[in-house]
Amino acid sequence: MLHYGPVPIDPPLILAPMAGITDRAYRRVIREIGSVGLVSMEFISSESLTRGIETTLNKIAFEHEERPLAIQIYGSDTGRMSDAAAIVEGVGADVCDINMGCPANKILKGCAGAALMRDLALARRIIRVVRSRIGIPLTVKFRAGIDEARANWVELGRICEGEGVTAVALHPRTAKQMYTGRADWDRIARLKEALRIPVVGNGDVEEPEDVLEMMSRTGCDAVMIGRASLKNPWIFAQAAALLSGRRRPAATLEERREHIRRHFALITASEDEKFALHKMRTFTGWYSRGLPNGRLLRARIGEAQTVMQLLDFLEVFFESQIFQPAPASLVA
Ligand SMILES: Cc1cc2nc3c(=O)[nH]c(=O)nc-3n(C[C@H](O)[C@H](O)[C@H](O)COP(=O)(O)O)c2cc1C
Repeated sequence: MLHYGPVPIDPPLILAPMAGITDRAYRRVIREIGSVGLVSMEFISSESLTRGIETTLNKIAFEHEERPLAIQIYGSDTGRMSDAAAIVEGVGADVCDINMGCPANKILKGCAGAALMRDLALARRIIRVVRSRIGIPLTVKFRAGIDEARANWVELGRICEGEGVTAVALHPRTAKQMYTGRADWDRIARLKEALRIPVVGNGDVEEPEDVLEMMSRTGCDAVMIGRASLKNPWIFAQAAALLSGRRRPAATLEERREHIRRHFALITASEDEKFALHKMRTFTGWYSRGLPNGRLLRARIGEAQTVMQLLDFLEVFFESQIFQPAPASLVA
């Protein structure tokens, strides 16, 4: 069984960090479905964390039921990264993860995220100070490189291994690609060949079967899933079943309705009206992609002015879908 130090990653399936998505409520509902070896928090600015910004401190709170849990930090200042890692350890996270893959301009301008792949000496210094500061497992998540001409993921992987990092995760697109094109899984295989520490494969796993495919094609030790979990939150349970030679049927429409109800109840309980409405709109946008007639729901949700209205739209939508299934041509 895969372990990060003392932390079992069982099954070897990981919820990817996603800003604005993998908050407490989302991690909780994914955990309730089960079969996730590790969940990741949305990335946390080392600058905000070490300055004690209240919204950031609220973000890093988590429930015992979510564990094992990784908290991901980003930044380019070695001192702040080291202090942030100490806070992450102090709040009881199981794993501290460093983001060296974020391609967003706002982050690159601060020389953090994937910008560190342009400056491997700085990347090494950050890893070194963080590693020596904390006792919990340390992981690093990165892309293939800043662009094709500077695709240096194997080099960064070797640095991680040399500095005592516990495991690495690779999303094999370049920062320049953002989310276009396809994640080149051969790059995961090349990283796996180059390293002895565990390698986590990530990128474009869409169906539960893709987990097996990624593992057999790349030899990776675990698979990290992001966007597909929004379309199908049961993907971990379905993939875990496949890994043990069984098959878990796809979720029914009724199960999807229950999932969304539960998730949105958690959001309502923890956020104010305005932010809750914003979150629910975002999530409905993602969830509806896996639903028959999802397009209709997306159009309707945009009109909701209050959380109550949005929840009503959802109920009406599900009633109509469950009692009058959509023609296959409308599944979106
Ligand atoms: C909305 C969104 C937010 C993301 N935020 C983060 C983040 O905070 N940290 C990070 O390392 N990656 C982040 N990612 C990248 C994902 O962790 C993952 O590497 C990427 O989506 C590819 O995996 P997938 O094809 O399974 O979604 C984000 C992706 C999305 C779609």
